Formats: sequence, C-alpha cells, structure tokens
Amino acid sequence: MNLPFPDSAATESLLAFWADAGVDGCYDDAPVDRTFIPPPAAKAVAKATASVVTPFVPAAAVDAVAEARRLAASADSLEALGKAISEFEGCPLRGMGARQAVFCRGNPEADLLIIGEGPGAEEDARGQPFVGRAGQLLDRMLFAAGLHERAFITNTVFWRPPGNRTPTPEEQAACAPFVERTFALLRPKAVLLLGAASAKSVLKTDEGIMKMRGQWREWRLAEAGPDGAIAAPAIPTLHPAFLLRQPHAKKQVWADLLSLAARLDEDY
Ligand code: URA
Repeated sequence: MNLPFPDSAATESLLAFWADAGVDGCYDDAPVDRTFIPPPAAKAVAKATASVVTPFVPAAAVDAVAEARRLAASADSLEALGKAISEFEGCPLRGMGARQAVFCRGNPEADLLIIGEGPGAEEDARGQPFVGRAGQLLDRMLFAAGLHERAFITNTVFWRPPGNRTPTPEEQAACAPFVERTFALLRPKAVLLLGAASAKSVLKTDEGIMKMRGQWREWRLAEAGPDGAIAAPAIPTLHPAFLLRQPHAKKQVWADLLSLAARLDEDY
C-alpha cells in the first residue's frame, strides 16, 4: 500500500500542534547506535529467540555511575559539587536537548534538603530548580510553614528530561552520586522528597507515593564518600506540579510540611 507523502504545510501544521502541546523533542530513553550491524551468527540467534530483547548498552553508560562517584567524591563544597555536575557528561539526558545543568537553589547552610524530580522548561532556561509554576507554589507553601529560609533545593536529575517526562531509573542512577554528595556536604536535619520519582529513587523503593506520603522514613548512606556514613529522617510528599492539577490535595502536603517543621524544631 502506498501512503500519501504529507505536504510541507501539513507537516508544519502537525509540528505546530505538537509544539503547542508541549512536545519539544523526540528521543528514546537511551542512545541508539544506528551504525551497529549485528554479525550474521548473532542475527540467526536473534531470529530464533525473537521474544528476548537485548538492549544496546553503550559503554559510556556503564562507566557513568563510576565517573559520577569519582567527580562527586572529589567535591569538598556545594559550590565545587555544582561545578563537577556541570562537567559530568555521563547522564543520558545531557544529549537530549537540555540547555544547561540545573543543580540547586536555597540556603547552603540549610537544615532541610528538598529533592524534586527533575528540571522543567523554566528551570532549564534559568538554571535553577523549582522556578516555574510548581516552584512558585512550593515557595508559597514553604513560606507559610516557616521553612522557606531553611531549605536547600535540588532534584534527582540535573538536566531537563525531554517533554518533561519522568526521568528513567538509569538517568537517576547516573546522577545519584551527586545527590548523595549533596546530602553528605549539607548534612541536613531532615529531607523532603517531592513526588513519586524522587521518593522511589532516594529511598530505593517501589512503593506508591500515596502510601508513602506523610510517613517518616530514614535515608541512610553507609558510605557517603570521604565522611563515612550519614543518615537523616526523610518524608515523602506529593509533588507541587500534582497540586496544580489537584488543588484539593494541598491539605495533605500542608500536613506533611507541618510534621516536617515540628521535626526540624525538635531538640533545639
Ligand atoms: N519539578 C521538579 O521536580 N523539579 C523542578 O526543578 C521543577 C519542577
């Protein structure tokens, strides 16, 4: 069957439609080596076991976590860590259209570490986390709970996932040594995890956010680089972007923030 080749006006109109819908890139989750030609024997095996999919894993991805660990461990301040992140080339998101690395904002002496999912369009343009609509809502809620000046904010990944999709576990794993080093350098009294992608990645669990939110957990790193073990109580809550769509859920997040504020003021 011959399909009609779309004319350029139709193509432009379709692209404009997707751009209006927020789609600004089209990528697979991992790089694809289109120059790779399997040897004939491998082709025969592949045909015989058609249901077994062996993904192409670039060598660079295998080394990415080790390289991130090395760079993170060598950073002895949050400022140096930001520089190390911007030099890190191992996160697959770097080659997917992100304009720059987005590391942190907030008080570098904070006793509260907040970890979101990953930068969106506004964050990608401005180079700081949570500066778009979700971030403005987060700021208002932190302010109302008296936590605004006490927070240091970052994400599980430092480059914008295309089309604001959820970062993959592989992308989060590549960035995790930097998130862990942030934890070790800041040594916060408590940690707030925003949304499922953050809570699952940091606490290494598959539990749903609706079950986890509002429950205190422990985030413990047996070896947090040169300084040995580190641990702090961590509370997952709903992501502010979710609250923009479901404002009725704000009361749950408010309860979690009050629990957090009370925890931070314990033993002072
Ligand atoms: N959502 C996030 O998870 N992080 C940001 O920095 C912005 C929006």
